[in-house]
Amino acid sequence: MKEQQKKLIQLTVNGEVLSLQVEAHWILSKVLRNDCGHTGTKEACGEGACGSCTVLIDGVAVPACMVLAVEQQGKNIETIEGLSTNGKLHPIQEAWLEEYGAQCGFCSPGMIMTTKYLLSKTPDPTDDEIKEALGGNLCICSNYEHIINAVRSAAKKMRKEQANV
Ligand code: FES
Ligand code: FES
Repeated sequence: MKEQQKKLIQLTVNGEVLSLQVEAHWILSKVLRNDCGHTGTKEACGEGACGSCTVLIDGVAVPACMVLAVEQQGKNIETIEGLSTNGKLHPIQEAWLEEYGAQCGFCSPGMIMTTKYLLSKTPDPTDDEIKEALGGNLCICSNYEHIINAVRSAAKKMRKEQANV
């Protein structure tokens, strides 16, 4: 099969500026996993229906299987690998552990990135707001009760952190 012509793009992934050669049809989730080594971004449906591939693009939660890598020139991408700092877990990750937000854990990276987006806009969400925000993220283990508890706990931790700044 003839190799497609590649295009050079530059984007920032978890604070690191990367130059990548990508083909026009390559989707972002595959590039993050195959070319950037960020396999924390999971892939399941590949068609925007499960949320397991959710990353933040310029601060907004987006299913990475639904966008082309070539369109990310100059964008700032954040994946689950970018959340902890100096080995310290992000409060959302801590909350996930404490509240048993993961059973098999496959949905967790996408759920956590969506939660980060939710809490950036709504620091003290109601249960209905949490459910609505996570509506596009599916958990095949049906761990939703724990996940909602984890989001509530993460919100509390982050508000507390903010108050102490
Ligand atoms: S793999 Fe992207 S939404 Fe399901
Ligand atoms: S914990 Fe298994 S898919 Fe959600």
